Amino acid sequence: MTNEIPRTARRVLAPEYGGPDVLRVVEEDVVQPGPGQVMIAVRAAGVNPADYKGFSRRANADPDALPIKPGYEVAGVVAALGADTELASGGGAVGDPVLAFRVSGGYASVVTVPAKDVFRKPDAIDFPAAANLLLVGATAADMLRAVDARDGETILVHGASGAVGVSLLQQARRRGMRAIGTAAQRNFEMVRRFGGEPVAYGPGLEQRVRDLAPDGVTAAFDCVGTDEAVDVSLALVPTARIVTIAAFQRAQRDGIRVVGGGMPESAAFRDSVRPDLIAQAAAGQLVVPVARTYPLEQAAEALTFLADGHPGGKLALIP
Ligand SMILES: NC(=O)c1ccc[n+]([C@@H]2O[C@H](COP(=O)([O-])OP(=O)(O)OC[C@H]3O[C@@H](n4cnc5c(N)ncnc54)[C@H](OP(=O)(O)O)[C@@H]3O)[C@@H](O)[C@H]2O)c1
Repeated sequence: MTNEIPRTARRVLAPEYGGPDVLRVVEEDVVQPGPGQVMIAVRAAGVNPADYKGFSRRANADPDALPIKPGYEVAGVVAALGADTELASGGGAVGDPVLAFRVSGGYASVVTVPAKDVFRKPDAIDFPAAANLLLVGATAADMLRAVDARDGETILVHGASGAVGVSLLQQARRRGMRAIGTAAQRNFEMVRRFGGEPVAYGPGLEQRVRDLAPDGVTAAFDCVGTDEAVDVSLALVPTARIVTIAAFQRAQRDGIRVVGGGMPESAAFRDSVRPDLIAQAAAGQLVVPVARTYPLEQAAEALTFLADGHPGGKLALIP
């Protein structure tokens, strides 16, 4: 540990449940890292829909969980290491560039997190991209696992222009799959860039997919959660080969697979794929398109933009 470690940090938190306007920026003392912990000076905090969903007003919201500290992933520089502590990727020293996932309270200028969740950042990706690599990458990998996707399959990806969607497209391409991906017309180029064949969502989707794949699609991945995505998937693919990350009620009703970071099997798998995802990013095989960055203080603006549903790439907060 050096003498120059930060003593205070700026943090974004939600003191109550509600929309992005409830977020506040506070100054707080930083937690000095104990054994097995790493303090990171955050250069970019990844932004995900789960962040605003975590403090949105809902029937079962627990008042004792307040304040909510959003942010599941960050990238930055090691500011201090606890005694006898190594990064998950091995070694580690003050000044090393790193990324961390899955952490809590990533919307901050400094975080102290378990070393088992901190990995050296490859030079090939910048801080905003690194801060957004692992949540969506691990989710996409988990979806492929959940339906036992096989190399060479023809698959349907709903929300292929979204953050999870583009990671899924790239991971599928790497495994020799053909992916048909739904998107708004203006995002067709994005789908193509990552190896997918774009198709517009909206009325007539089922027939458009049949026209593109006359021999059928064999698995469907719902990264959107609309009834249309679920209905078209059910019309085209056996129930056991459909997985969703967003249509929780439909999943229960229709018996399709659902995966989430809070489910033990998914959590363990997602942890296990982090090194491989980082290696893919280092090799240029897994790209994270960043649409916009915001100062940390503008977390509410970032989440308002994201909640609109068409960000066109990832967002990052820069402390
Ligand atoms: N369960 C989990 O483990 C897990 C993990 C990560 C994310 N998620 C959830 O998965 C969803 C996607 O996350 P993300 O980070 O990929 O979000 P994102 O980057 O905001 O992407 C949203 C996607 O939805 C598409 N979309 C918006 N409205 C649509 C509509 N009416 N019909 C069809 N597609 C529509 C967008 O397409 P266009 O922009 O082309 O219109 C875009 O591709 C969110 O609900 C998120 O909370 C769940």
